[in-house]
Amino acid sequence: MIASDLQTPPVFAPAAHNALVEALVEQGWYVGTKVIDSALCQALYRELLHMAEHDALNEAGIGRGQHHHLRKDVRGDAIHWLDRESEAQRLYLNAMGELQQSLNQALFLGLFEYEAHFAHYPPGAFYQRHLDSFKGRANRIISTVGYLNPDWPSDGGGEMVIYHPDDPTQEVARVVPEAGTFACFLSESIPHEVLPTQQPRASIAGWFRRNASLGGVLDPAH
Ligand code: OGA
Ligand code: MN
Repeated sequence: MIASDLQTPPVFAPAAHNALVEALVEQGWYVGTKVIDSALCQALYRELLHMAEHDALNEAGIGRGQHHHLRKDVRGDAIHWLDRESEAQRLYLNAMGELQQSLNQALFLGLFEYEAHFAHYPPGAFYQRHLDSFKGRANRIISTVGYLNPDWPSDGGGEMVIYHPDDPTQEVARVVPEAGTFACFLSESIPHEVLPTQQPRASIAGWFRRNASLGGVLDPAH
């Protein structure tokens, strides 16, 4: 072991890998608090705030490729795709690469790609209940959300509500968007929504993918 190993906490709590795999198998979703290292959350949070302040984010839309369009009545966040341009992004994406290996080893999912974007929800913004992938044409297999806001107030709103896969009206969890919290769920079957936020809200939404060829046309990453 070298000295730096002693000083650097893991970016992603190692015990969370097993807990996450078990929860995905049992119920199709996982939520853990204090999973992502707080110094890394802070660095990512600063990066996202800087982008928000410098108009470096894009209004998020719905649908892919030529079907992509803005719908402020459906989702109100602004996004920036992670591309390894900072050390913080590289650390986060490397941690997701390790998680991908754990998922593949335990569940034989054949995941081979991960895409993720920062998301900034200004006060009043929300994201209506939705699935991240449509059954049958799925190449988004597992969704992840990492939260970045330190000290989220109890009246801050902006919770992510997770619904039962067989009954989209039955709420099964409410996730407070507090820095360090990590959520993960089956993209095809877990409905979820973001409640209106009272505070600027910062997260990283990401998806483990398998490549899907749609009528001979490779589904574009974004
Ligand atoms: C999404 C999403 C949830 C969140 O971007 O698809 O559901 O809590 N995000 O940010
Ligand atoms: Mn979603």
